[in-house]
Amino acid sequence: MSENVKIVFEGKTYEFPVIVGTEGETAIDISNLRQMTGLITLDPGYANTGSCSSSITFMDGEKGILRYRGIPVEQLAEHSSFIETAYLLINDRLPAKEELNQVSVLFNDQSLVHEDMQNFYNNFPRASHPMGILSSMVNALRSFYPELQIIEEEINITVTRLLSKVRTMAAMSHKISRGHKVVYPRPDYKYCANFLHMMFDTPVRPYQINETLVKALEVFWILHADHEQNCSTSTVRLVGSGRVNLYAAISAGIAALWGPLHGGANQAVIEMLTDIQNDGGNYQRAIDRAKDKKDSFRLMGFGHRVYKAYDPRAKILKKMCDNVLDELYITDPLLDLAKKLEEAALTDDYFIEHNLYPNVDFYSGIILRAMGIPTNMFTVMFAIGRLPGWIAQWKESVDDPKWKLGRPRQIYTGPKETRYIPIDER
Ligand code: CMC
Repeated sequence: MSENVKIVFEGKTYEFPVIVGTEGETAIDISNLRQMTGLITLDPGYANTGSCSSSITFMDGEKGILRYRGIPVEQLAEHSSFIETAYLLINDRLPAKEELNQVSVLFNDQSLVHEDMQNFYNNFPRASHPMGILSSMVNALRSFYPELQIIEEEINITVTRLLSKVRTMAAMSHKISRGHKVVYPRPDYKYCANFLHMMFDTPVRPYQINETLVKALEVFWILHADHEQNCSTSTVRLVGSGRVNLYAAISAGIAALWGPLHGGANQAVIEMLTDIQNDGGNYQRAIDRAKDKKDSFRLMGFGHRVYKAYDPRAKILKKMCDNVLDELYITDPLLDLAKKLEEAALTDDYFIEHNLYPNVDFYSGIILRAMGIPTNMFTVMFAIGRLPGWIAQWKESVDDPKWKLGRPRQIYTGPKETRYIPIDER
């Protein structure tokens, strides 16, 4: 392979090095493009732009591969826990048994939220979306936990706080939205079981931990833990590049995740399936609408910027839907509907030509429903899962010796210099 790429512009030839990643992906390094040629690149949606080099997550969209630090997600989903996977992403290695035990102790120590924060929760209007609340509250954490002087200590404690407290805060917002008393974490429960306990325990009906649901939650969060340079992760890196504190960067990531084209799709899928069900189960109408260019409707939970094959996460979640529902003796008509819709879409020429397959959000909502998670909390569940990825990517970016303030350029298309017209002359 040629080591350089040549660009010919206005009769002059410029050469740019080719960068090759460990899995053979190639890029032209154009860091000196403007300096050398006066040109910039234009790439709406950054579909062809690498914003960084990263050793965290590898995806191959054509082959449907996803690996964290080299380990296939399928293996992590089967054998690992969410906390072990989070450790792997953030620390670049699997923890020893003792280290994992130590993490549990630290998480317990950090699992409570400052009681004064409840005042904020109580003052959000009841109809507020939990994603808006979570983003605001994570940003507010900085005010409650001021910066420590020793940088390494500050980073370590902030990471632990975020991973442990965001889970408590999410459950707390659910309880308060119901007008129920907040449930405190239990030191004898592990991460996922503790979340379900805080969400669903009530004085009149103590929550019985169900191992099928705990395992389902582990897998759900493992599969959401990182996805390289997606919209919210790029947001965390970009906001972080201005050297804001980690709480503010994560808060921005949560806000970016909220959108229905990104993490908000899991809520949108269940709403879409419910609409189809209310329409007498006419899924073909949804497919026809998704194909109609005059209609802005899209099949939610289908398509992906990178995957042009079946999303490996969706494959695992689809199988898990069947297992969870079988083991709990639940029948969910939305699962049957989702399967019929998928089958019809995958044999439809439009979806075949556009390489549109179910993504992670297509089946995840069915599992969350089985747990009893309300639909408007689905994207919060995604956010808790994505937290280790955001943190790992932020850490990698701040440790990068080539770290630079994120600042894209533009091609200006507005008016040329125009004289200001005083108000009386207009
Ligand atoms: N339904 C119908 N048509 C679609 C869909 C869809 N879900 N997704 C893409 N297309 C079509 C689109 O209309 C366009 O057609 P044409 O080339 O004929 O104009 C073509 O496919 C390419 O679409 P695009 O928007 O340029 O592609 P993209 O790579 O920017 O889109 C996407 C990625 C996720 C925004 C898009 O597939 C989509 O809107 N999907 C539905 C929302 C969704 O499920 N989002 C969750 C993504 S996975 C979770 C995450 O990582 O956040």
